[in-house]
Amino acid sequence: MTDPAKAPSPLPGDALVPRWKAADGSVQLLHGDSIELLARLPAESVDTIFADPPYFLSNGGMTCKNGKRASVDKGKWDRSQGIEENHEFNRRWLAACKRVLRPNGTIWVSGTSHVIYSVGFAMQQLDFKQLNEIVWEKPNPPPNLSCRYFTHATESILWAARDRKSKHFFAYDQMRSDNGGKQMKSVWRMTAPGKAEKTHGRHPTQKPLSLLERILVASSRPGAVILDPFNGSGTTGVAAVRLGHNYIGIDLSDEYLDLTKRRILAEKPSLDGGRPALRVVHVA
Ligand SMILES: C[S@@+](CC[C@H](N)C(=O)[O-])C[C@H]1O[C@@H](n2cnc3c(N)ncnc32)[C@H](O)[C@@H]1O
Repeated sequence: MTDPAKAPSPLPGDALVPRWKAADGSVQLLHGDSIELLARLPAESVDTIFADPPYFLSNGGMTCKNGKRASVDKGKWDRSQGIEENHEFNRRWLAACKRVLRPNGTIWVSGTSHVIYSVGFAMQQLDFKQLNEIVWEKPNPPPNLSCRYFTHATESILWAARDRKSKHFFAYDQMRSDNGGKQMKSVWRMTAPGKAEKTHGRHPTQKPLSLLERILVASSRPGAVILDPFNGSGTTGVAAVRLGHNYIGIDLSDEYLDLTKRRILAEKPSLDGGRPALRVVHVA
């Protein structure tokens, strides 16, 4: 057990009972709807947000999985509710994120053409300050089986500051040095996560750790509070722990939160307090 006297100051959101909390309090996994739970975190308490929201792709289309034709079905959470409802959802969770961001905090949001224009428009409506649009290029994308389109090989990641007055952090020198002494461009070529990143369980839209590590190194000072409102398999959490940050992850699925816990403990076993997984109780 961690000595409470030595434990770091509690993360924002300590009034919520997490699905899992690291022994030193540096990680909290919250089970439930992110719009609801974000409203219960203290305002201006988070430094960096990475969000990989539903892309609204799972509507009967076809894709190529392991070389075979398969229908796109990532889960109920990924079904489109219609253009306007999808946009309203994006506006609501982005507004909830903006409330918890510190004045100089930044947010990164990934998406494909199915969702990213709505996200960008919602960010403009909410007065975020756009900083960059990163293009993540996948060197080995699945082939396009219909042969009627180019092979989809990219995702966009929008990086924005909380508002126009924000003095955001950018690890310019580190990025330049990671890029062999030249300014790093906004096109990042990185492979999708391989088997080694999936040994603790599967998630249909897992992001590569290399992508999240670069994002956090570029935009977060040491010991920052990182939040992911669409935690999934917990890639953001694993990167945060690896880099010595604090982390709050939120997901509708307890199964995915348990996968995240396994991934985080594999990264840093000392975070295990030995407590059994808690029943989910939301404190009013
Ligand atoms: C695109 S995936 C994120 C994948 C993640 N970046 C990773 O590397 O594994 C989106 C996740 O958001 C969760 N989700 C969808 N709608 C949600 C909501 N309203 N509140 C909380 N989680 C939600 C889903 O269960 C899913 O795991």
